[in-house]
Amino acid sequence: KSVADLGDLRGKRVLVRCDLNVPLDGETITDDGRIRASVPTLTQLREAGARVVVMAHLARPKGQVNPKYSLAPAAKRLGELLGTDVVLAQDVVGPSAEAMVAGLADGEIGMLENVRYEPAEESKVDAERVELAQRYAAFGDVFVSDGFGVVHRKQASVYDVASLLPNAAGGLVLAEVEVLKRLTESPERPYVVVLGGAKVSDKLAVIANLLGTADTVVVGGGMLFTFLAAQGHEVGTSLLERDQIDTVRGYLEQAEATGKRIVLPTDIVVAPEFKADATPTVVAADAMPADQLGLDIGPESAKAFADVVRGAKTVFWNGPMGVAEWAAFANGTRAVAQALTEVDGLSVVGGGDSAAAVRDLGFADDDFGHISTGGGASLEYLEGKTLPGLAVLG
Ligand code: 3PG
Repeated sequence: KSVADLGDLRGKRVLVRCDLNVPLDGETITDDGRIRASVPTLTQLREAGARVVVMAHLARPKGQVNPKYSLAPAAKRLGELLGTDVVLAQDVVGPSAEAMVAGLADGEIGMLENVRYEPAEESKVDAERVELAQRYAAFGDVFVSDGFGVVHRKQASVYDVASLLPNAAGGLVLAEVEVLKRLTESPERPYVVVLGGAKVSDKLAVIANLLGTADTVVVGGGMLFTFLAAQGHEVGTSLLERDQIDTVRGYLEQAEATGKRIVLPTDIVVAPEFKADATPTVVAADAMPADQLGLDIGPESAKAFADVVRGAKTVFWNGPMGVAEWAAFANGTRAVAQALTEVDGLSVVGGGDSAAAVRDLGFADDDFGHISTGGGASLEYLEGKTLPGLAVLG
């Protein structure tokens, strides 16, 4: 169901889950893509005369109130983009939130504080989440799911609340699903998936399933070191998921047995410490020094990755190849991004960090077929998994 199916919304309180999880440098938003992507649905609701209550999370405060993770910068930026005040409650379901919701007039918009301040938001215990979701549901007459980036999370503000109110998918969620459907139902081949980024354990888990549909999986970013370790190589002080090494060895064997390709870097940019101005050195991927850490793929690998991408008819890319926000370690990400812009077919960039990286490197959104607001969410969709936040709608 779409927003139009919810009927006349004038005077109704519409609870909307958005994904406003934007990268911050202190209180400065370094990429507001997810906030901009949320504007059309919120505008549609305001123009319909709804009283709009936005729910969102920022980062992973793990159930603790922490001003570092306040949604204040996001509320301010959203207000600028909408050309109106977005009142931010001081709490999630407390007296400030109640007063904020009660004070909304038709067409006005307010926001709850970071829903992940509430320990029950991400609880694995259904009853705990449902109890919190009931408190959210008391703030709305209907629920709109528009935070595509979070629909893979079975969390109170994404999943449980949806079953307590009449609900619909917002335009952003519908548009994202439309594009990703093209990748799952008959992608033009070769179909290449490029994986990188820092949320390593989340992403390692998707590879087995992706190997079923994609022809080639290219691995860079934080997870590549677990692959190198699985091949028996030294990875120095790089990011490493030690307990995943055997699993990763299994992926390499699975690829070999099924004729799929996992492409790994052959050279790495290492540095003695995790710092923007640390001295970079290029080394062979099978000869990393024990006292250094990898911060990007090397130039030979960047070229090889770019060639694989350019030869594809369908490409999905999630996760920077290195620490792309630092100039000395951005070359791998830049090369892959450039190659994506040259694909003769459908190129999709997914995830907050990847989208931020390509914009930061000077690429425009329309250089790519589609920039998805969802990283983990789009990967799980492509794996063919049921996403709780989508399954619950309807
Ligand atoms: C994201 O950044 O991918 C989404 O906002 C979800 O965040 P999470 O991985 O912390 O659940």
